[in-house]
This record gives sequence, structure tokens and C-alpha cells, in this order.
Amino acid sequence: MPGKNIENRVELRNISKAFGGVAALKDVTLKAAPGEIHALMGENGAGKSTLMKILSGALQKDGGEIFIDDEKVNIKNTYDSKELGIGIIYQEFSLVPDLTVAENVFFNQLSKGSRWMKWDKLKREAATIINNIGFDINTGVRVSSLSIAQQQIVEIAKALSEKVKVLILDEPSAVLGPTEVQKLFETLHTLKSEGVTIIYISHHLSEIFKIADRVTVLKDGISTQRLLVAETDKETIIKLMLGRSLNAMFPPRNAVVGGEVIRVEDIYVSGKVKGVSLRVRSGEVIGIAGLVGSGRTETVRGIFAADKLSGGKVFVSGKKVNFRSPADAVKQGIGMVPEDRKRQGVLLPLSIKHNVTLANFRGITGKLGFVRFGEENKKSRELIKKLAIKAVNENAPVGSLSGGNQQKVVLAKWFNRDCKVIIIDEPTRGVDVGAKIEIYNLINELAAKGAAVIVISSETAELMGICDWILVMREGKVQGTLEKDEFNEENILRYAIGAS
Ligand SMILES: Nc1ncnc2c1ncn2[C@@H]1O[C@H](COP(=O)(O)OP(=O)(O)OP(=O)(O)O)[C@@H](O)[C@H]1O
Ligand SMILES: [Mg+2]
Repeated sequence: MPGKNIENRVELRNISKAFGGVAALKDVTLKAAPGEIHALMGENGAGKSTLMKILSGALQKDGGEIFIDDEKVNIKNTYDSKELGIGIIYQEFSLVPDLTVAENVFFNQLSKGSRWMKWDKLKREAATIINNIGFDINTGVRVSSLSIAQQQIVEIAKALSEKVKVLILDEPSAVLGPTEVQKLFETLHTLKSEGVTIIYISHHLSEIFKIADRVTVLKDGISTQRLLVAETDKETIIKLMLGRSLNAMFPPRNAVVGGEVIRVEDIYVSGKVKGVSLRVRSGEVIGIAGLVGSGRTETVRGIFAADKLSGGKVFVSGKKVNFRSPADAVKQGIGMVPEDRKRQGVLLPLSIKHNVTLANFRGITGKLGFVRFGEENKKSRELIKKLAIKAVNENAPVGSLSGGNQQKVVLAKWFNRDCKVIIIDEPTRGVDVGAKIEIYNLINELAAKGAAVIVISSETAELMGICDWILVMREGKVQGTLEKDEFNEENILRYAIGAS
């Protein structure tokens, strides 16, 4: 609007929201100017997603006011917010798995019937949007065949298929690798220069310092302060989020290494894994690094029999095993916390308690196979406390928890079982800084109890902080093995991208 000087593109004033009598947002204020990248931070369950769903019309507020371009608006549903130029990329994916990439990108327009179904044109236009943000995905394939990183890119393309003046991203980087995050940031910078206001949610403090102009911190449903990023530091933000400061991010490792627990010899998985070997002893924590698509996830899925091995051998405690299914692997004491937890990790309608005890049903049944309910309650309460899972109690359905708290339930489920080998794909994805430390402590405890632990992570700092040694993969092969005294970002990256 030429001539008109807009102070705030978005203003949320005194927003409140309760779920079944429990307050999620109490009195929240947020202001962002045109062309501003505004970070929204806070612990798991602080109310970030709820606040953004109110702005996008997916949820209705109980109280408060919303202003867009300094004018009061009434957002009754998601159509109203789209009309106002608000685009959102939700924390939970909203794509339709059985539709193609192109159909998903233009889903909103197609469902409104405002676009002719010229499929070739649709495919080409979707490809253009995806190329513009720096990626290359076949837009004719079904979304269900894509990796989660690719699915996230389709979500971004979908949000950008309509003209937006406010773009909300709820933890977009949680499922992306470093190179993809870099490209995303370039896109956000372009949008910013066009005057688009961006609200960016992330648990990665380093990202906030890279791209955000201002940050609002939520604590228990209350907005604390709005800070200029240039005038603040990590410690200040952590303190506002957690209400305390943190000393050490990583617990000290004093590995007591025992005998070999798992040995993998020259395994192959459907063109993605090309001859990987590794060996983990009792008490050890090893890391697998590599870029998205390097074959890390496929390697562990192969070991766990979630994907079929097309070659190679696996030995557990010196004996050759032939897992036909993940259930087989579980029986032999192998546990795996998958990367894609929404689809593979939890049962959303079931309670936290049931989800946590699911993998360990035998541990809580007596000799005759009856469930000892007292035991079940006690164990799940312990884990809820340890991982600081934010919920009314252990009977709350997992579907009612915040994204990060759902992640913690999946971890709790496997930590609750005594596994010989535990494989964790991206242990702290979507988890706040305080809970990260708890997870590192639990990994340490599992190893101290004699488990062999395999961790995959896109965060190299995390691998260097918790592992005894690190394998770096590229193109389905192990390119290098790093001992503790060789740990640094450069060494990992060199093997990961293949530079000499
Ligand atoms: N549909 C729902 N039913 C009941 N409670 C809910 C629902 N959605 C959210 N909540 C509760 O509201 C609170 C805030 O959740 P929200 O998802 O906004 O947190 P968040 O800050 O986005 O956390 P995270 O970082 O884990 O994603 C939590 O206590 C959560 O359990
Ligand atoms: Mg959230």
C-alpha cells in the first residue's frame, strides 16, 4: 500500500487459549514489522505452535486481538488467513501422501477449483517454484515416495505457491540437513527483501543468530520479551526460555568398553547402502555423520530389518543373525528410534503410558503374563519426569502433546526397554535445549549399563559431544572413521562432501 506507513505487519495482542481448562497461552504479545524475520522461541510445550495456529486460523483464540498491517482483523478459519496473505508451514506435515508433488504444491488452489487441471502445466509450475528455492524434485511422483527432507521442501513450495505477505515456519529446519537449511535461508532472505514478514520457530539458537532480526521468547504460555537479536546473546535467550542457565551441554563420557555387541559386515541396501561395515562394543556410543541422502538412515534401517538387506552379514554377540523383520530384531535386543517418528514411532490416540510401555510389554507383565499396572504407572511416571515431558499426566493421549514432547515419548519408549543395541536416528530433533541435555544423559546412562549405542545426527556438534568415534558416510559408503582426537567440523565435512 503506497503512501501508508505500516508499523506492524503482524501484531498479536494479549492472546489467550486453553485446552480443556488447561491454559496453553495466557497473555501473549508479538509484533513484527514488514520485511522482518522474527524468531519465536520457547521450551517444548511453551505454546509456539498454538499461537501460530491461531494466526493461521487453524485454532480459535479465547481472548485477545490480532492486527495485520495495523488493522484489526477477525480470523475465523484458514481461508480468512489466506485472504489476508498469511502462509504457514506447520510442524506436522499437511501433505497428502497419495497425491503427487505437483498436486500437493497447488492443493489449495485445486481444492478451490480455481485452476484448470492441465497436469503438464501444473507439474512444470510446481517444478519452477521448487527450483526457485534451490531444489530439484520430480513433481510427478507421489509424496509418499519422498524422503522427509524432500517432503519439507514440498511444504515450503506449497506455502509459496500463493502470494504471501506473512510466512510462518514452524520448525522447518528440524528435518533438513545443513545444505538444505542454507538454501532455505537464502529463500527467506529473498522474501525478506521483498517485504514479506517471516515468523520462524526453531530450537536451534545458532539459526536465530544467523537469520532473525528480532526474537520473542515464550515461557509457559506467556511472552517474556521481544529482543533485538543483534543486542542479545545465547545465554540470555536460554535463560528466558528455561528460567535458568545451563552449564555444560554435553555430559562427560567415561566409557567402560566391553566386548563386541554388534558387528556389521559389508551390508548392502537397495542401491542406497553399498558395502558398510561397523562394529560397536558394549558401553560405546558411535556416531554416523553424513549429508541427507548419504545412506545413514538406510544403513540402520537395514541393520534393524526395516529395509531388506541385499547383501552382507550382521552378528549380535558374535552370532550371525538373520532378521526377517523389525520384530525379529527387537526380540534379539535391538532397539531403534526412527527418524520419522510421526509415522513410525508413536500411536497418537493412545496415552503416554501405553506408548512408553508398548515396546516393553514383557517387562511389565508378571510371570503369568498379567500386566502389573502399578509397575506400568511407576515406570512411565519416572520417564515423564526424567525427560521433562510436559503433560497433564501419564494418561494424556500423545496426540494432545506439543511436537517436541511427542518426540520425547518415542525416546522414552525405547529407553524403557533394556536393549543390547540401541540405534537412534536424530535423537534431539525438535527438542528444546533443556531436554537435549536430558537425552544426552540418558544415552550416557544406556551405554554405562552396557548397551552399544549408534547415533545418527545432522548436528555435528552433537555427535562430537556424545560419541566415542564417528563414521562419516557419503554415497552409501563409509568414507572415514574419526577418533575422538580427530573430531572437528572440518574433518567431518571433508568426508561428507568428498573434498580432499
Ligand atoms: N489439541 C490439543 N489438545 C490439548 N492440549 C493441547 C493441544 N494442542 C496443544 N496442547 C497443549 O498446549 C500446550 C502448548 O503446545 P504447543 O504445541 O503450542 O507447544 P510448542 O511451543 O509448539 O512446543 P514444541 O516445541 O514441542 O513444538 C502444550 O501443553 C500442549 O500439550
Ligand atoms: Mg510446536
